[in-house]
Amino acid sequence: MAEDALVLTDIRKSFNVGSPAEVEILHGIGLTLEPGAFCALIGPSGSGKSTLLNIIGLLDRPSAGRLAIGGQATLGLDDAALTRLRGRSIGFVFQAHHLIPAFTAVENVMMPLLLNRGWADAGMRIAAEALLDRVGMARWRDARIANLSGGQAQRVAIARALIMEPVLVLADEPTGNLDTAAADGVFDMMQAMNREQGMTFLIVTHDPRLAKRCGRVIELVDGQVIGSAS
Ligand SMILES: Nc1ncnc2c1ncn2[C@@H]1O[C@H](COP(=O)(O)OP(=O)(O)OP(=O)(O)O)[C@@H](O)[C@H]1O
Ligand SMILES: [Mg+2]
Repeated sequence: MAEDALVLTDIRKSFNVGSPAEVEILHGIGLTLEPGAFCALIGPSGSGKSTLLNIIGLLDRPSAGRLAIGGQATLGLDDAALTRLRGRSIGFVFQAHHLIPAFTAVENVMMPLLLNRGWADAGMRIAAEALLDRVGMARWRDARIANLSGGQAQRVAIARALIMEPVLVLADEPTGNLDTAAADGVFDMMQAMNREQGMTFLIVTHDPRLAKRCGRVIELVDGQVIGSAS
């Protein structure tokens, strides 16, 4: 049996700790995502979805509780070790694509490989081109991001998130800026990559139509998981 993609144990998060404005946002979250799961994370605005995603993505630390990514526990790791684990195990897709506009699609997709290795080689370009092909962007691989539509840029962002072959892909409203047709296309593509490559997806969405298409829906209300129908 492969390790679980994610295990959260009693995760809590407070902001402004030690000040009169201290407030606990996440109240003891427990959650396990099995390998290859395709999950939606839903809940009202302010319920803590992005806060939780940032903790799972090792961009922020919980105030209490434990997490493990692909069987690797994070408790006690220093910042450098967390950064290495993040680079190796987690792919991010945000609402805004965060690609470099002046660079081409293939250059953007290669970037994580380049940053990881420190120098470029021909294999990186080949890997990036193959992934752009898989997300339906082969024709645009040498186009600058500035010249792509929102939906096209988001496909490139997904290819970039997948290039390191992460265990877990975290997406925070990845279709939030797209019209219905483009959102459906990007969603179809994430689902296809999940089926073909088996990495686990956790996708924050406000769109009930898209959430219905996920194998599992996890609902966060007031910093607590209230439903996670499988
Ligand atoms: N750095 C911070 N300092 C203080 N409070 C914060 C901080 N980040 C988030 N919060 C608060 O935590 C709560 C949850 O915010 P979060 O962004 O996680 O919600 P969300 O579910 O992602 O909402 P949305 O659907 O609008 O994106 C909010 O009340 C927010 O104001
Ligand atoms: Mg949010």
